[in-house]
Amino acid sequence: MCGIVGYVGNKKAVDVLLEGLTSLEYRGYDSSGIAVNIDGKVQLFKAAGKLQNLKNIVEKNYAEISKSTIGIGHIRWATHGAPTVENAHPHSCNCGKVAVVHNGIIENFKELRERLEKNGCTFRSQTDTETIAHLVATKFGEVHNLTEAVRLATKEIEGAYAICVIHQDLPDTIVATRRNAPLVVGLGEGENYVASDVPALIQYTKKAMYLEDNQIVTLTPNSIELIDIDNNPLKQKVETLPWEPVALSKMGYKHFMLKEIHEQPDVVRNVLSGKLRASDEKVLLKEVTLDKEKLRNLNRIQIVACGTSLHAAMVGKYLIEEFCGIPVDVEPSSEYIYRKTITDKNTLVIGVSQSGETADTITAVRQAKSKGSHILIITNRPDSTMAREADSLVPVNAGIEVSVAATKSYIAQLISFYLIAIYMAEVKNSMDLKELADLKHELIILPQKIEKILAHTEDIQRCARKFSGSKDFIFIARGINFPTALEGALKLKEISYINATGYTAGELKHGPIAMLDESMPVLSILMKGKVYDKILSNSEEAKARNARMIALTDSEDEKLKELFENIIEIPEISEILSPALAVVPLQLLAYYIAEFLGKDVDQPRNLAKSVTVE
Ligand code: F6R
Repeated sequence: MCGIVGYVGNKKAVDVLLEGLTSLEYRGYDSSGIAVNIDGKVQLFKAAGKLQNLKNIVEKNYAEISKSTIGIGHIRWATHGAPTVENAHPHSCNCGKVAVVHNGIIENFKELRERLEKNGCTFRSQTDTETIAHLVATKFGEVHNLTEAVRLATKEIEGAYAICVIHQDLPDTIVATRRNAPLVVGLGEGENYVASDVPALIQYTKKAMYLEDNQIVTLTPNSIELIDIDNNPLKQKVETLPWEPVALSKMGYKHFMLKEIHEQPDVVRNVLSGKLRASDEKVLLKEVTLDKEKLRNLNRIQIVACGTSLHAAMVGKYLIEEFCGIPVDVEPSSEYIYRKTITDKNTLVIGVSQSGETADTITAVRQAKSKGSHILIITNRPDSTMAREADSLVPVNAGIEVSVAATKSYIAQLISFYLIAIYMAEVKNSMDLKELADLKHELIILPQKIEKILAHTEDIQRCARKFSGSKDFIFIARGINFPTALEGALKLKEISYINATGYTAGELKHGPIAMLDESMPVLSILMKGKVYDKILSNSEEAKARNARMIALTDSEDEKLKELFENIIEIPEISEILSPALAVVPLQLLAYYIAEFLGKDVDQPRNLAKSVTVE
């Protein structure tokens, strides 16, 4: 949601902060700011809008600002208070000695604010974060120790937070803490770092320590001290970060999104690697730790996820039901958590999340865990909060995804679901062996088919140019590709702001067909298989209402040319595996339409990469 960076050491802090914020820009980008200590005074520099606006301010004052070797920085995705300069972080207390950056939501901020105002604090912003600055300053006045002041303050704060604090009188100390929001400490030589996420650190260090909830860390250039909320010293668990800095480069592509779309063949290979070796061998999935006997006896599976991950979950439902005969419910996490969900120790609950930090999904998973369900997490971030809730952890190995619109993580989630469903079918002995072997073979050669699509995007670009002026867009499909229609529509609306909707083709005639006229593009996902003819006749119905028809198909049937104005052809593939191929041209279509319209593809308005608030 928001991004935090802190640095203390011997470098020009401002350089580290701005670089760190640049690599965290995917987390939010509606305002930003830094606090540094210049000649013994804490000074704040803030800007509304994109990070570049802050960079421009810093550039004008660089000689002064670069004197500081300590600092904290923040990039914001607004929750409390509009994205203005006043509401941008860092926030400060009345004497200006304390500066705080914060990711999360302080739920009791109104009570805290009222109390602090009664005690004489004057608030300058509408944010919940400013209460922390005043609270820490008040506590510091009592205990004259920043770590203790932060510890006492967090005892009074309710909600989710990751916080970094500096104090004017301690020019070589940062105190940081978290509860239900990520924070990672980077360890250097004569310098230390803290950030919301690894991308802000990997260019400086590969040694890191993930903070747990309610831990408080005090950083100086040469020391790191870790305590719990009751002031007990804790042992530090230092890990080596798996990523290389190159993961954050566009590698010559115009946008991260395009680069990430093109990475998908290798992503599929990565996900399969070590798990699916040959079509006549069983899937190896040691990550699934659920006892085989229990797995055989499962009578129910629930999958919780949001957004694109939810669409992968919908394909997962289809696969598990088809291969294993176990009933599967899929629900948006945000709905699952506010009703009486029926789950117990005989239910397997699967949480799917690229970031592993989506608040709704974390809450849903915790809710199920408290009822004794086995929790299986499918995530691109094995270092995330959600991953730590897992009984079985299936990392999807897509590599870091920078573009806000998820692409390669979706395909990685899909392939993970294929592996899980095959693995379960093999444990349950519930599927025909020849059918399984065929599917495994197709999975192994899937990367080549994706490569074929990526090598010839001309048709897709032509189609994008032609329809980029459309105000609305409809995607139709049936069966296992209904989630593909939803995902195609989501990609398009996210980055081009065109009103796009996915429908099951059979539902079109029950209402949406009323919207069709000569201005409405309807894209039919028409993959060969058992619903091909049905979708074809649904497409005829749409054409009869003058809609502008586009086909995405693996069929070479010449007759399609009469019905469809544009045809995007993809390599032939079995219907069951087709979601993993059909989504690629839809990602490209969305990309090229947004690019053609001149939209900010990697950082669409109002969005953030990880949504850490409910
Ligand atoms: C779409 C997108 C969002 C996320 C959703 C869930 O491109 O990125 O819809 O899929 O916010 O995020 P994760 O998967 O991190 O839980």
